[in-house]
Amino acid sequence: MALLGCGVVGTEVVRLLREQADDLAARVGAPLELAGIAVRRPDKVRAGVDRDLLTTDAQALVTRDDVDIVVEVIGGIEPARGLMLEAMKTGKSVITANKALLAEDGATLFAAAREYGADLYYEASVAGAIPLLRPLRESLVGDHVHRVLGIVNGTTNYILDQMDTHGAGFNDALEEAQALGYAEADPTADVEGFDAAAKAAILAQLAFHTPVTAADVHREGITEVSAADVAGAKGMDCVVKLLAICERVPSEDGRNGRGVSVRVYPAMIPRSHPLASVREAYNAVFVEAESAGSLMFYGAGAGGAPTASAILGDLVAVARNVVGGTAGPVEVTYAKLPVLPMGET
Ligand code: NDP
Ligand code: HSE
Repeated sequence: MALLGCGVVGTEVVRLLREQADDLAARVGAPLELAGIAVRRPDKVRAGVDRDLLTTDAQALVTRDDVDIVVEVIGGIEPARGLMLEAMKTGKSVITANKALLAEDGATLFAAAREYGADLYYEASVAGAIPLLRPLRESLVGDHVHRVLGIVNGTTNYILDQMDTHGAGFNDALEEAQALGYAEADPTADVEGFDAAAKAAILAQLAFHTPVTAADVHREGITEVSAADVAGAKGMDCVVKLLAICERVPSEDGRNGRGVSVRVYPAMIPRSHPLASVREAYNAVFVEAESAGSLMFYGAGAGGAPTASAILGDLVAVARNVVGGTAGPVEVTYAKLPVLPMGET
């Protein structure tokens, strides 16, 4: 396998591969061997990472004959997209945590996975360690999901929680979130709601089987939320949370509904609501489905180790497919539901 990127998430993937090598080999039925790691700055000191594995030639790494699986944790659109496409074209399976790319141009990646018969897994792209995409894609695929709602960005939840609990300032709390490895390389993606919008698009697409991109999502971030707003909410026994809400909008004349509505915005919720007790960088997501009823998913939503856990889960699944000579589920959207603008729901 090859690793693209060795930052907050990548270094934890390397650590888990090393520390759990024997268990992973037993679970897969073959050892997981790291052939190389693509980075920008090979001279940077990275604890626990073998410098001989580092390369700046990501293109050469993804096309090597001894690489079956490529794990992408660079982030952003390019070169991540080109590298993953190249990997799939040359018969490799891909695992990625890149929600920004999946929400902007997932269709191109899914088409390549179909065309080349490659696995494309991305559990880590939404809600960190929480197993959420696989339940939506596999366990609930026979049900009819009405709504997915929750907190999907750890950085903004950390900031709002620090403001609520300790009266912290916005900028100080953001700096702490960055130091803890929760924030995106450009934290504007977190605080302006782009990251949550990307995750909402991924969730909506999986829940409703219809194409949804980040551009379809109504988005408001938390930069306008002041200390006074948080204190005011507290006075009313409420908390402010950045919510992502994906809904199938009902209609009388069709089971699929009139369309879907996907939105991200800060909301005041009563302190007695389960989402109010989601602290620090934790995430929580409710899924409401016709037969399953209401399900709640909760856990660490950001950070190196939790995200690496989700990646390792994908890695074992994909490696088993490689060993067994099969491919896993390929993304198919079949509904063509319009994404409704705010105000039409
Ligand atoms: P970092 O910024 O910490 O790491 C990015 C890594 O990519 C660095 O090692 C960097 O190299 C490398 N890189 C950047 N550009 C290139 C390039 N052109 N060629 C080769 N390598 C390159 O990001 P994170 O680890 O935090 O995030 C990685 C991905 O995981 C993103 O898609 C992010 O959205 C996603 N994610 C992150 C989570 C988190 O909590 N941090 C949680 C869930 C998903 P160098 O070190 O040399 O600069
Ligand atoms: N920046 C993201 C967050 C990382 O804070 O939720 C996890 O996807």
